[in-house]
Amino acid sequence: MMQNYNYKYYEPLEQMIAVRHQYMSKIIKKITHLNIYEYLKNKKILDIGCGTGEFLKNYHELNNQCLGIDIQQNFKFKNKIGFTLKNTDLKNFIKNNKKKFDIIFIFEFLEHLSFSEREFLFKNLFKLLNRNSLIFISTLNKNIISKFLAIDVAEKYLKLLPKNTHDDKYFLKPSEIQNLANNNKLHLIDVSGMTYNPLFKSFKLSKIDLVNYFVSLRN
Ligand SMILES: C[S@@+](CC[C@H](N)C(=O)[O-])C[C@H]1O[C@@H](n2cnc3c(N)ncnc32)[C@H](O)[C@@H]1O
Repeated sequence: MMQNYNYKYYEPLEQMIAVRHQYMSKIIKKITHLNIYEYLKNKKILDIGCGTGEFLKNYHELNNQCLGIDIQQNFKFKNKIGFTLKNTDLKNFIKNNKKKFDIIFIFEFLEHLSFSEREFLFKNLFKLLNRNSLIFISTLNKNIISKFLAIDVAEKYLKLLPKNTHDDKYFLKPSEIQNLANNNKLHLIDVSGMTYNPLFKSFKLSKIDLVNYFVSLRN
């Protein structure tokens, strides 16, 4: 679905790194009563649509075994023991994969999949998981405001993202993720909004999930 993107495309995503970590800390605390640093050790982590690998690298540094997959080869880092970035598409990866994971990241990815790819992913997520695993997702909500802010403002007016990065046809409501999860043996833990401040170029957690939001799932 996506054409050739460069680092310019990935830069705005790096502004989400802090809020993602904050969100995951909140959920991990709620579920396990551990802080994220106690919890995230010796875990097997899969990052689907990992982009440059920048986000995933932080979790390798916290002593986890990390695998990132992406259809584009825009990786910023070399592979080393316990850290692999693999250039493959979602379907091929799932068809050939035999590994299981404790945590799966699906950040800013679902809105780039066709409806059939999305179904395929959810049908197979359960098989990728060890027991008591967590899935963290972020994506764009589907409504007139998210279309206006993510496409008209971010792509056309502020030029934060290249044109045609998004097609609002593929945006999803939190309830659609919940249905996909429930139909595929996964359970919703949480939905939280995040808002963007273009002046500070930063995201923060928010009760407002009209545009960007996180979802956490468990098996
Ligand atoms: C918006 S970027 C998000 C990157 C990263 N998750 C982040 O948030 O920084 C979406 C990524 O998904 C990848 N992608 C899109 N379709 C894919 C597919 N079918 N299989 C694997 N990767 C895909 C793109 O190449 C791109 O790097």
